[in-house]
Amino acid sequence: MINCLTTRNEEPAAAQMFFPDLLPAPSPPADSVPASCPVCQGTGFEYDPIKRRSRRCVRCRGGAESLVERARIPARYRESSFDNFRVNPDDERQKSLVMAVLACRRYVKDYPVERGLGLLFLGPCGVGKTHLAVATANALMCLKRVPCLFYDFRDLLKAIQETYNPLTQTTELSVLRPVYDVDVLILDDLGAGKSTEWVRDTITHILNTRYNEQKTTIITSNYLDQPSDRYDETLEERIGVRLRSRLYEMCKTIQMCGEDYRQTHLHRRPLIHA
Ligand SMILES: Nc1ncnc2c1ncn2[C@@H]1O[C@H](COP(=O)(O)OP(=O)(O)O)[C@@H](O)[C@H]1O
Ligand SMILES: [Mg+2]
Ligand SMILES: [Zn+2]
Repeated sequence: MINCLTTRNEEPAAAQMFFPDLLPAPSPPADSVPASCPVCQGTGFEYDPIKRRSRRCVRCRGGAESLVERARIPARYRESSFDNFRVNPDDERQKSLVMAVLACRRYVKDYPVERGLGLLFLGPCGVGKTHLAVATANALMCLKRVPCLFYDFRDLLKAIQETYNPLTQTTELSVLRPVYDVDVLILDDLGAGKSTEWVRDTITHILNTRYNEQKTTIITSNYLDQPSDRYDETLEERIGVRLRSRLYEMCKTIQMCGEDYRQTHLHRRPLIHA
């Protein structure tokens, strides 16, 4: 890592980190993405006329130049789409999921939205929040050529800490610049991990800056506003009152409830008894 002069657990003062030269510069319009691949025009996606849906471009395989490659979407979710999000519209228990996928489709259709309005997916673990957040990003990249960037909340904070230089009191521009600048930032698992004052200040600063620049942020969180259990922490307790109220303005909230898809559908391995 370049210029990494800090220890992993050192927490730079959030206010010190953000120097004027880190303030966001206007990002290029989506149209200026280099059309490197003649098949997908640099999006990394192409239309499959047989299956009548988009797929990874067969020519460049979503190569290094493509939007999809630059979005840093984790391998597990790379193929996430609205089409492979399975819901049963006749099942009353899945109503919130049906509504969620409809809202996402509408969001993509209407994009760019007024004042950079984003989405905030709230719900328990495994209901498909990250799947739908990435499906929305994939659709925006594929259909509208909008640059997106995925960051797991904890990974982002770790990257900021790891590249913080206590001598110059700055963080690597290579980490922060795209987080400020990208048209659509997907911030996964907001509130996860240790919640310290530095964490809250840092994330509040990043999201506030994006809000002021009218940049779109798509967020997921397992923390709810009204938790089912009185021992559960609320989102507000995790991220602070100020940021929670900012998120009301920045994002349309999508509540999802239901079973953990991982437990009910995936990895059903038999128990091994000793
Ligand atoms: N309705 C669904 N249809 C298809 N796959 C789903 C659905 N819901 C969740 N998944 C899959 O289950 C796994 C867990 O979903 P994920 O989006 O990570 O949940 P969450 O972010 O809410 O914890 C992922 O592999 C995801 O693709
Ligand atoms: Mg998730
Ligand atoms: Zn291509």
